[in-house]
Order: sequence, then structure tokens, then C-alpha cells
Amino acid sequence: MFAKWLIAASIALCSSTMVFADNPCLKGPPVAKNAAECCVTPSLVEPSAFMACHSKWISQTKRQMAMEGIPRGCCVAECVMNQTGLYSDGKIDRAALTELYLGSAKPLAPEWKQITLDAIDGCFRMADSIKEEIDAGAKLTPAFDGEQICHPISGTILACMGMTLFAECPAKLFTVNDACNQLKSYHSQCPFL
Ligand SMILES: *[C@@H]1O[C@H](CO)[C@@H](O)[C@H](O)[C@H]1NC(C)=O
Repeated sequence: MFAKWLIAASIALCSSTMVFADNPCLKGPPVAKNAAECCVTPSLVEPSAFMACHSKWISQTKRQMAMEGIPRGCCVAECVMNQTGLYSDGKIDRAALTELYLGSAKPLAPEWKQITLDAIDGCFRMADSIKEEIDAGAKLTPAFDGEQICHPISGTILACMGMTLFAECPAKLFTVNDACNQLKSYHSQCPFL
């Protein structure tokens, strides 16, 4: 059940195959708490780099999230990947991505190294298993004026990594309180966006 949702949510980073009225991700997190206050996970880029891409693309992304049909690629994620130079031509440089994540894991607790390697493995496997849908999303054409089509691979990998690392936060590193528990439950289904 968890794995199924994880995959669904990863695909649904910008849109979902079905528009479900009760899609738990559309409304955003239930509490105004930064996930990093609950658990500091390895990350691909600094929060400021993520925020720059977020402000540039989030309104388009929100609009796409409510659309039916083949899931659309997430430009917030592609923008982040572009900043790292890991993305080109529908592909992500897995070796370079691994290096960046491990560099970010280094100052953190030693447990993170294996957790990160396993997450990368799982996320690339998952992306491989939905390759047809990802490729179909890459071939979409703009559905509204000014829509930029991004390749779904970046959003798929980034959403999967963010959710998996947060979910796998070792118990001793996770701040237990009501807000953090609610965030954990929310992000077991919904990507960080
Ligand atoms: C990312 O870079 C590619 C060129 O490699 C470009 O075509 C694409 O528009 C960029 N995406 C975003 C969201 O900036």
C-alpha cells in the first residue's frame, strides 16, 4: 500500500492520472512546520536554490496538478536538476547525483549513507518501471497559453528521493511531536513541493 502510494505520488508531482476530489496532496501539508525541523535529510541542493525554482514554477505546477490525463513533468524539479547540471536530454546522471547526495549526507549521521544509496537504487528502479508513462509525459504539448513542458524524469526522481529519505529517517534522528508526526504521515503520500 505504501509503495503504491509512493509511486502514485511521485508520478503525481505535477498532475495525477485521475483527478480525485480527495487527493490528499493538493491542499499541501496539514501543519505549518518545516520538515527539516523534524528530520534533517540529505538533499540535492540548498533550500535557497530550491526556493528560486519553486517561486519561478509553482503557479504553473499547481495548475498542472489539477489536470487530467498523462502526468505532466514538473518544472520545479527540472529547474532544480538543471541547477545541478545532472539533467540533460531526458536523462539524469545517476553517478553524479549519487555523489551530490553522499556529499550532503557526509556531515550528517553515518546511517544516512546506506539509506541514501538504497533510496537512489529504489527511485531509479521505480522510474524505470514507469518509463512508458514518463516518456509519454515528455511528449505532451502545451495545453494552455505559456505552458512549458518539462520532462517527468526530474520530478519522479526528486519526489521519490525526498519522500523516501524523510520516511526512512532513523527514529533517533526524528523529532517526535504532534506536528512532525502529521508531516510524516502527509509525506508518506505526498511529495515536497
Ligand atoms: C532545463 O535545461 C534544458 C536544457 O538542457 C532546457 O531545455 C529546459 O527548459 C530547462 N528546464 C527548466 C525548467 O528550466
